[in-house]
This record gives sequence, structure tokens and C-alpha cells, in this order.
Amino acid sequence: MSQTIDQVRAGCEWQRELCRKNGSPTYVAIITELIERLGADEAVTELLTADDQDPIQSALCLRLFGAVNRIAMAESASWLTAYYPTFGGETEVDKVVPAFFDFLGANLPAVREQMSISVQTNEVGRAAPLSAAMNYVATATGLPLRLLEVGASAGLNLLFDRYFVAGSDESWGPADSVLRLVGHFESGRPRAARLDIAERRGCDLNPIDVYAPETANLLRSFVWPEHVERVHRLDAALEVARSAPRLSIDAADGCSWVLKHIEELTPGHTTVIFHSIVLAYFDADERARFAKLIRTRGAATGEDQPLAWISLEPSVDDSSVVNLVCELWPTNKRVLLARTTPHGTQVRWDPQEESA
Ligand SMILES: C[S@@+](CC[C@H](N)C(=O)[O-])C[C@H]1O[C@@H](n2cnc3c(N)ncnc32)[C@H](O)[C@@H]1O
Repeated sequence: MSQTIDQVRAGCEWQRELCRKNGSPTYVAIITELIERLGADEAVTELLTADDQDPIQSALCLRLFGAVNRIAMAESASWLTAYYPTFGGETEVDKVVPAFFDFLGANLPAVREQMSISVQTNEVGRAAPLSAAMNYVATATGLPLRLLEVGASAGLNLLFDRYFVAGSDESWGPADSVLRLVGHFESGRPRAARLDIAERRGCDLNPIDVYAPETANLLRSFVWPEHVERVHRLDAALEVARSAPRLSIDAADGCSWVLKHIEELTPGHTTVIFHSIVLAYFDADERARFAKLIRTRGAATGEDQPLAWISLEPSVDDSSVVNLVCELWPTNKRVLLARTTPHGTQVRWDPQEESA
């Protein structure tokens, strides 16, 4: 089903606000121009309204940017290297907007086709808060961890224990890792822990193979132009992943996959379900079903096979603030561990128990 101009405008405005709050003046300027062209520029209007997915839920603008960026990368387009810091350029909003729209106009059929690819970021900055939450769970249960990541993308965050992470006064992970997550914690004192990871696997609707030649460019195409640090993290994480044992990322929907993998918990292990920036892609029914099935399973488990649920997801009131929450059974504890940005920076670690 196609979208109305009002629906597309609402999606653009929503995305523009996120880009504004998360440091992308280039995308703010391009989205502003997109909004102006809606209803006035036939080609742009047709491209965006013909899309059959909900503009907010499917991150329409980011799919458009990813599509344009991939085509521009394949052609080594000069505007990309001139104006995108992630490609060595300098932000020049006044110049990048016309260059972007000229390029878009010249590549409409290819952009339309590429826009069917959903957003795949696999942001490893999130491994900083996620690993601190894993330390918290390992300390609380004292058992080997069985990791189940939902919406794992390429699985880069499943390898959090292969990255060096500096907390405020303690650090963890191999000091010689090529991926060093330093300066992510703004306040609080997350603790290091001895981790024994017995098993790790993930699922995604569209899993990405870290060994596929197109993977680096696909993931890079979704990094915002000013986020140079993210490109460095991504390159380092891909290097780590390619030297680690191959991960198992199943092509599956999160609800059915979790249900299957928590039916039988492993005695003597803590099963940890975790996800970061995934639930926004579920519809309201799926989100409710997902939470219910985890909580129901948690309520039925015993002390020798704890279940933990670590969630790194935007807060309901402000999607630029991301909450790191841990629920744990059989103790039936719910703790808001930290608040962070969507990319796992400026982590404010401050564990607060909430009513479960
Ligand atoms: C924004 S990305 C985040 C990826 C990764 N968790 C990270 O933090 O970098 C959202 C991911 O969720 C996946 N996804 C969306 N809906 C899903 C579902 N119902 N079941 C499984 N994965 C899903 C997408 O394919 C995508 O890889």
C-alpha cells in the first residue's frame, strides 16, 4: 500500500529530529529539502509515497540515504568524498544538498530498487553498555552465559567480550583488541566481571554475513556522514569478527526464535536474551507478545537455570534517550542499569531497581 504525503512528511520530520539530536547536520539539511519537495517535486514525491512500508517504522529516510550512499560508493561519486566526513570530506551543508538531489535525480530507478533493503547498522558502540550489563548479570548469577541476541544483524555485538571496554575506573575485554571502546561511560561505576560464554547465537529478519564482500559497504552506507568514529568502530569490529569463530545468526523473526530457544533452558547456565535498537521495528502486538513470552518463561524458571533479559531500547518519551534495562529470573528483578545515546555513547551508569 502506498503512503500519503502527510504520512511521508511525518516520517521525514521524525527522522530529522533524530538526526538533529544525534549530530548529523547533513541529513537534517537533506531531509528539510525532501520535506520541501514533497508535493512539489514529482519524482521525489513519487519515490517516497510509492514505498509500501510505514515511513517511521521502516526508517524511510535512512533507507533512502543508504540506497543513495551505496550507489554513490560504487561510482566513487565526488560529492561523497568532498562533503561526507565518513569518506574523508568536510561537512558543507549548502553544497551537499544540491549534489545529493542531482545524484538522486540521475539514479532514481536504482535508488528505488536499493530502498527495499532495510536499515542495517550493527552499531558496535552499543557493545560498551551491553557488555557492562553482561558483567552485571554474570556477577549476579555466577554462571556461564548462553547468549541469544534478537535482531543481531551481522552479530557484531555478540562478540562484545572480544572488544576492549574502558569503564570509569575498571575496564574489561582484551587490552590488545583492535576495537577499543574508550570514553563511552560518562558517569557511574560499571564493574568488570569474569565472563564464561558457553554459547552465542543470534537471529535477524535479514542476517548479514560478515564474510560476504558487500557487507562492509552495506553497513557503511547506513552510517551518518558526520559519524567518523562509527566507521572506525565498524571496520575494527569486522576485523575482529572475521578472525573469530563463525557466528550462527538465524534468519528468523524474533518472537518465534526466542520462543524456540527458551523453551528448554540449560541447567547450570544463565540464558541471556538481549537486543539493541530492535523493538521499534516490531509492531505493537509483536512487542507485547515478545515481552509476555519472556516474562512467562522467566516466571517458570528455577535457580539452576536463570533467565536474563537485557534490553537497550529508546525510552517511550524521548527516542534519543536509550534505556539499558535488565530483567532477571527467578529473582524477578527489574533494574534500569543506565541511560545512553542510541549509539552507546555518553553512558550514565546508575542501576535503579524498578518494580517488576
Ligand atoms: C537498527 S538495527 C540494530 C541491529 C543491532 N541490534 C545493533 O544494535 O546494531 C535493527 C535490526 O533488527 C532487525 N529486525 C527487525 N525486526 C525484526 C524481527 N521481527 N525479528 C528479528 N530481527 C528483526 C533488523 O533486520 C535489523 O538488523
